[in-house]
Amino acid sequence: MTQTYKHWTFETDRDNIVWLTFDKAGSSTNTLSGEVVAEFSAVLDELRAKNPRALIIRSGKSSGFIAGADVEEFTKITSTDDALAIVRRGWDVMNKLAALRFPTLALVNGFCMGGGLELALACRYRIAVDQPGTRFALPEVMLGILPGWGGVMRLPRVVGPTAALDMMMTGRSVDARRAKRMGLADASVPPRVMENSARIMALEAPAPRALPFLQSLMNSPLLRPLVASVARRQLAAKARREHYPAPYAILDLWQKYDGDPFAPPIGDPASVATLAEGDTARNLIRIFFLQERMKSLGKESDFEAKHVHVIGAGVMGGDIAAWCAMRGLAVTLQDQSANALVPAMKRAQALFKRRLRETRRIRDAADLLIPDVAGDGARRADVIIEAIFENLEVKRALFAKLEAVAKPGAILATNTSSLKLADISANFADPSRLVGIHFFNPVPQMQLVEIVSGMNTNSATVKKAAAFVRQIDKLPLHVKDSPGFLVNRVLGPYLNQALRMVDEGMAPETLDAAMTQFGMPMGPIELADTVGLDICMHAGKVLAGGSAQPPKKLADLVAAGNLGKKSGRGFYAWQDGKARKGAVGAVTQELIERLIAPYLKEAQAVVAEGIVADADLADAGLIFGTGFAPFRGGPLNYVASKKPA
Ligand code: NAI
Repeated sequence: MTQTYKHWTFETDRDNIVWLTFDKAGSSTNTLSGEVVAEFSAVLDELRAKNPRALIIRSGKSSGFIAGADVEEFTKITSTDDALAIVRRGWDVMNKLAALRFPTLALVNGFCMGGGLELALACRYRIAVDQPGTRFALPEVMLGILPGWGGVMRLPRVVGPTAALDMMMTGRSVDARRAKRMGLADASVPPRVMENSARIMALEAPAPRALPFLQSLMNSPLLRPLVASVARRQLAAKARREHYPAPYAILDLWQKYDGDPFAPPIGDPASVATLAEGDTARNLIRIFFLQERMKSLGKESDFEAKHVHVIGAGVMGGDIAAWCAMRGLAVTLQDQSANALVPAMKRAQALFKRRLRETRRIRDAADLLIPDVAGDGARRADVIIEAIFENLEVKRALFAKLEAVAKPGAILATNTSSLKLADISANFADPSRLVGIHFFNPVPQMQLVEIVSGMNTNSATVKKAAAFVRQIDKLPLHVKDSPGFLVNRVLGPYLNQALRMVDEGMAPETLDAAMTQFGMPMGPIELADTVGLDICMHAGKVLAGGSAQPPKKLADLVAAGNLGKKSGRGFYAWQDGKARKGAVGAVTQELIERLIAPYLKEAQAVVAEGIVADADLADAGLIFGTGFAPFRGGPLNYVASKKPA
């Protein structure tokens, strides 16, 4: 037994199999930092000399196998040489692992991401432990970089180019069973037999699975150009190369260089150096850390909810309740009548089916969501969320009852978009109990949740609310109680400007095209139609303090009952959930700047007024709450970098 390493330990069993355990010192998660990789390389040298019967690599952490490279180290990159050095050390060590003459096996229990999957791919076999936390992914593309430690070379060889390109170009993860079905894992086994299964496979050393004929043909130099051109076309419909160069680079690197990151010449768009020099990777890595920062906001309290009571089963309340049940919480859902609950229960079932897929998991979630017209759940709940009509008097009356029956430590929250917390809590015995937990529509898709502190709100409650939001896997952001909070406040003037430009005679199609060209996921007019024109008009009035006239076309459409997507007609006609669009006019730089200017101005104002703690958090909130072009790193980062659009 050798124990000279800091992050790795190994022992040899009676069958002469070496069990190598990765347990990164001083960290709850295994990441492949420079030091870890250097040690791994030394371990492999030692094992090569020792020449055991087989090698099994496993994790010593309960959190998972390996989360990937140490992203912190990416932020210290100051030159392309630095970037290439990180790629070099990982590429070399994975090749060293792949070249070992004895059978090698990765026993994957929990997440196996990025460099972690590249390590597993460099092993001859992979066993996936079938439990909910086991996920395989190459998410480098989300950081604007590519899997340079052998992933682009090995994944297509193991699962075929169709599935490999999909995983690498989207960053999508697969679970243990899917990994087995697609050939990424040689076996998917329950936790209790994982060690035994690994031992048997290592001893039997079966011939590695061959790629199905068609997939191996598609991976041949002959067909690669064809496969790549189809993939490139599909990609072009989703992301522009100048905005998101990484998925294009992945495709090129596979097609032309068989995934070898050192093969492309200097200046080739497929090279790591080119990606490292652009702004996109830096901005996407920045967003990764902003997201981590938002997650950490949930760690300031150890509050853990078991039961949530939601009142109001409309657009928002229904989906909030369904989401909480899907995340494993007991939920009671209250509305004025049993009938009023029916649409929400139906939507919940559809959501469970779509997201959970397996019958058992769908049933478990459905069992957790309980209709509760009488509102009995309020007495037992740890979190009470009000999502009824936007009417102050009705909300006050409701909270008077809720405050009287709620458990002493329970969170009392409102989902209001436009009412002041201090007004809602005016008649509370203890107004410090009320906090805003402001979700966005559609709840399942929107990651951001604003945690609103009113002037009376207790800071411990605010922390508990953030912990609850993390518990249900959303991203919390603290905001002050001021009209529109962060997201709607910034969206308001932006939409207003676009809607007034329609009044001036601009085609909605042209305005939308200008903003998607800037990098927004959806243009402002389509966004207004999607949100609902009645809601836009109401929000506009609230933000303008009731003074300004609404944009004319908007007011006309609302008056005629054409409310956008939900009524089938708004600025666009809607069919099968899609806007029917006509021709796009000329998009100029000037048009882009005119459209985005109010957004940027308001984002700066919100920071100046202290609605959010700092510019970084405002950027994070606006990226996750409005989809602001992620590759630009957020509106304030964009303003600060003063790059032309
Ligand atoms: P909605 O009109 O779809 O649903 C409201 C529901 O509350 C209805 O089912 C109604 O029957 C029920 N209700 C009304 N009074 C009640 C009472 N006293 N007891 C029990 N149930 C009652 O409304 P929506 O759009 O879901 O909005 C709800 C809240 O969420 C509002 O405060 C709104 O400002 C806020 N919000 C709305 C967003 C949106 O995009 N619709 C986004 C974020 C927040």
